[in-house]
Amino acid sequence: MDNVIELKNINKIYGRRVKTQVLHDVNLSIEEGSFNSIIGASGSGKTTLLNIIGTLDKPTNGQVYINEKRTDKMGRWTLASLRNKNIGFVFQFHYLLPEFNVMENVLMPNTIKRLFSGRKAKNRAEELLDLVGLASLKKRSIYDLSGGQQQRVAIARALMNSPKIILADEPTGNLDSHSSQEVYELFRDINEKFKTTFIIITHDDRIAKKCDRIIQIEDGKVSG
Ligand SMILES: Nc1ncnc2c1ncn2[C@@H]1O[C@H](COP(=O)(O)OP(=O)(O)OP(=O)(O)O)[C@@H](O)[C@H]1O
Ligand SMILES: [Mg+2]
Repeated sequence: MDNVIELKNINKIYGRRVKTQVLHDVNLSIEEGSFNSIIGASGSGKTTLLNIIGTLDKPTNGQVYINEKRTDKMGRWTLASLRNKNIGFVFQFHYLLPEFNVMENVLMPNTIKRLFSGRKAKNRAEELLDLVGLASLKKRSIYDLSGGQQQRVAIARALMNSPKIILADEPTGNLDSHSSQEVYELFRDINEKFKTTFIIITHDDRIAKKCDRIIQIEDGKVSG
């Protein structure tokens, strides 16, 4: 199996005058198509690590490879394009745009990037809304959805550009246990159908236990 993500000797130090080292010599390989969780205490460095993997943040030193391309030295436009094509993000808060309806929110990555023309994009968005079980709500306002439904719209949006990788930072942190389970099942379906690689930060043991691999962070060091 090929590694879709490789981190080599990653250190992250925040601050100039007062320095806080948040990640210590992290080495991590993630296989293409694998389903992983990251667990660890609050403040241990999980979000910092995920943001570095997702190229939203840069390491102080060390190397980050996505699809065998080194990203930590890339400029912001090259990175933005790499991200747009390869990585979908799901956060604890959905960051949907409330002035747009469900369908328009799912279409947003395409509206920004113009990957394919109108009809094709709409078909893709409809397929994805069907996949997340919201086809009948496509014209609804974001305000009229439950928390679980909003998160499913955010997941459909993350899939819009067919990313190889989905990075999720506490995607069920705001949901009740039933909706959390639904989000997990949906991630698994996507993983099996499209061979999408998943990395999910979670405080929920029931979800972590069902992943193929648990990556544990303790004080900025990775084990497992
Ligand atoms: N931009 C920043 N500047 C300075 N320190 C930061 C910054 N971002 C995070 N930190 C610090 O880095 C450490 C790790 O933060 P991080 O957000 O990665 O933790 P986490 O494991 O995701 O925690 P949680 O479970 O609470 O989300 C914390 O001590 C935090 O205060
Ligand atoms: Mg965090």
